[in-house]
Amino acid sequence: MEMRFSSNLVFYLLVTFFHLQLIQLRASTEYTRPSPRQLISRTHNRSDSEPQQVHVSLAGKDYMRVSWITSDKKVKSIVEYGKSPGKYVSSATGESTSYHYFFYNSGKIHHVKIGPLDPSTTYYYRCGGAGTEFSFRTPPSTFPIEFTVAGDLGQTEWTASTLDHVRAKDYDVFLLPGDLSYADTQQPLWDSFGRLVEPYASTRPWMVTEGNHEIETFPIIYPHGFRAYNARWLMPYKESGSKSNLYYSFDVVGTHIIMLGSYTDFDSDSDQYKWLQADLANVDRKKTPWVVVLLHAPWYNSNQAHQGEGESMRQAMEEMLYKARVDVVFAGHVHAYERFTRVYDNNADPCGPVYITIGDGGNREGLAMNFENPSPSISIYREPSFGHGRLRLYNNTHGQWSWHRNNETDAIIADELWLESLSSSTLCNQAAISSKSHNNDEL
Ligand SMILES: [Fe+2]
Repeated sequence: MEMRFSSNLVFYLLVTFFHLQLIQLRASTEYTRPSPRQLISRTHNRSDSEPQQVHVSLAGKDYMRVSWITSDKKVKSIVEYGKSPGKYVSSATGESTSYHYFFYNSGKIHHVKIGPLDPSTTYYYRCGGAGTEFSFRTPPSTFPIEFTVAGDLGQTEWTASTLDHVRAKDYDVFLLPGDLSYADTQQPLWDSFGRLVEPYASTRPWMVTEGNHEIETFPIIYPHGFRAYNARWLMPYKESGSKSNLYYSFDVVGTHIIMLGSYTDFDSDSDQYKWLQADLANVDRKKTPWVVVLLHAPWYNSNQAHQGEGESMRQAMEEMLYKARVDVVFAGHVHAYERFTRVYDNNADPCGPVYITIGDGGNREGLAMNFENPSPSISIYREPSFGHGRLRLYNNTHGQWSWHRNNETDAIIADELWLESLSSSTLCNQAAISSKSHNNDEL
């Protein structure tokens, strides 16, 4: 019995080792990437009962979800909160989960929904009934609103630099189009990522979708993957009628944001496709004049890295987004910045979304240096540098996008664009109406 256990153990360790080597080899031979920076290790230095890895996310109208981890499994899933430091006039209890991955056992992962909350208000809160006080600010209820966007974060000194630039200027909601910790099956790296981002993610809502680095499948044993991601980064999928944490949507200040999953089924008979159809059909552009989509593997990409990886999803879903007059589609995956003009089916189209790749958060794999030449005419700006983006929506019709490159200590605006919501475009609304009546004629 013992013999069989230890030979199984050796087998699994060997397979894990070769699996990780393959991941590293693939990453290192695909592109020439300059100077990635050191990994940052955030060790656990609080007591077992104290909350760690605290982060907050939007969880339906006027509600936020507070998530955290304790090593001590007896700590209760309770959040106390109020509008003044130390005065917790409200409290809520929630749920908890945990998972194991080979020989790793997670701490107790708590998720507690609190609310209803007032807009543009700082709330002070503590988790588990004791310990450190945290605070976050809720988004406003009217324009303007500012989103920060950064994908493929990882946990290096570049990541820290990006996050410091994000925090240096105020914003309301952080959006992450996939690839968070780069743990790549080494589960303690999920914990150190949680500790690294806590100072940022405990103060503003972090809304994320999954990238390939979240998959972590293992043949036979963990065939479905996303064990760590789904347990730790619970997003408001139930609140948006989705059956999976891998895709969902939410509304915030006149903006409908859709988080799609590049690594779950998206064909026309899939749950995700049907959910997206229903979700888009429910959008009321009078209530949410802006519609923004995030996904991981870009549908448009002129970098040599990850060429064509988003193509089958584009073919399956692009027409739906186009007909719904989606304003902007953000992607990650490629470790560089690239902005396209408004595009539909590979051609410039004034009624298509602006496509932006923003996978330049700062992970250990470094930058994707090589773009295809010549540049396609629909690609407007491209640059392999680390950085983050900001989407400021001023009112129902006008917004501004800017991309902030990480220079050594400062963030420099390297690309900027004024945006007009497609909901306010007479040309595109007429085109949408005539295509609808054309389809009805065909029926
Ligand atoms: Fe990726």
